[in-house]
Amino acid sequence: THSMPSLNGKKIMLAITGSIAAYKAASLTRLLIKSGAEVQILMTEAAKAFITPLTLSTLSKKPVYSEVISEDGWNNHVELGLWADAMVIAPCTANTLAKMANGLCDNIVLACYLSARCPVYFAPAMDLDMWKHPSTVQNLNKLKDFGCKLIPVGHGELASGLVGDGRMAEPEAIVEMLTTALVPDSVFQGKKVLVTAGPTYEAIDPVRFIGNRSSGKMGIVIADRLAAKGATVKLILGPSRLQVDHENVETIRVESAQEMYEAALKIYPEVEIAVMAAAVADYRPKVVADQKIKKKTNTFDLELEKTADIAASLGKIKRKNQINVGFALETANETANAAGKLVRKNFDFVVLNSLNDKGAGFNKPTNKISLLFSEDKIKKFELNSKEAVAVDIVNEIEQLLASRDE
Ligand code: CTP
Repeated sequence: THSMPSLNGKKIMLAITGSIAAYKAASLTRLLIKSGAEVQILMTEAAKAFITPLTLSTLSKKPVYSEVISEDGWNNHVELGLWADAMVIAPCTANTLAKMANGLCDNIVLACYLSARCPVYFAPAMDLDMWKHPSTVQNLNKLKDFGCKLIPVGHGELASGLVGDGRMAEPEAIVEMLTTALVPDSVFQGKKVLVTAGPTYEAIDPVRFIGNRSSGKMGIVIADRLAAKGATVKLILGPSRLQVDHENVETIRVESAQEMYEAALKIYPEVEIAVMAAAVADYRPKVVADQKIKKKTNTFDLELEKTADIAASLGKIKRKNQINVGFALETANETANAAGKLVRKNFDFVVLNSLNDKGAGFNKPTNKISLLFSEDKIKKFELNSKEAVAVDIVNEIEQLLASRDE
């Protein structure tokens, strides 16, 4: 349903370095050409062990440059650096990353990198321990400081057989990131969005709390998706082990429902869209002991009081041009309960997930949702990865925005 916006006429310098992920450069080149871009391939000598220049020159319809000086003369890196609308280094090895961070210039990729006036994107590819090594982390931060744009690595099985972070982003994701950056036609461009995500912890005493099993994943992938579409996102995140690595996402870490409430109230007036995906505690201990509670009695009563309802409070102050999206996790009377929340919290639509659906809900990589609108309008979706679910939710918000902007 959503057609890929085109990179028509954009000039891309695609630099390939020596990683097993170089095989993906073939499909990346094809996708770029298909979306209308002009592609100039650069490759290091090491990259040739993984993919042939012939494959790449055929796909890109241009000769491949792998030497600063070749038999045909001098490949003018200064000219290339001026020609390109964007430089993409994919895959970018730990070695190239280190050289870029330190200004080394011993091959054509580095010469073009140092000469490039256009934005530079790099898609690292390496084994998980190399990825986590402090020197890699330091080099990465240096590049970010220089203004280079990281194309986040994926998580999964690596060529070594180990499982973890370090996989090069998929070609589709790279093309999409470039498209959003170079062709700013998304309705989200320049829009500010608030996303709440994760659980909350309600202190009982200095060591104990009441929490829940939310991982924060659903809200985080929504924040990431919105950012990819060009929105500026403020993510208010409860205690979660996850994080977002997109430059358009600012994360505000909170712990309790009260902290999340205060942060949300402060940010809400400046945003156009609020997505409330957090699993906020409904109750908190009425009194928080300031010393660790000792085990003295056989039974122990804990008095709880209601927390502030963030979504309902934002619903009350919602302006006509704001869009609020809520979640409902239900175990019984799903539709009726969710419809009640739609009205009570003044949501534009509610994302309903039922715990009765296999694969839906907390601490799972997948989700199965229905979207509930006023007048009992309902859209049902199949079980899918949370990333794919985020795409569906963001598409829905996009349609709402587009219908308003008309
Ligand atoms: N929510 C919130 N603040 C709260 C409680 C909930 O912002 N204190 C938001 C959630 O982020 C979600 C929606 O409200 O988007 C629905 O949350 P849910 O816990 O299902 O609703 P409750 O109002 O707690 O209703 P109930 O306990 O009756 O299911």
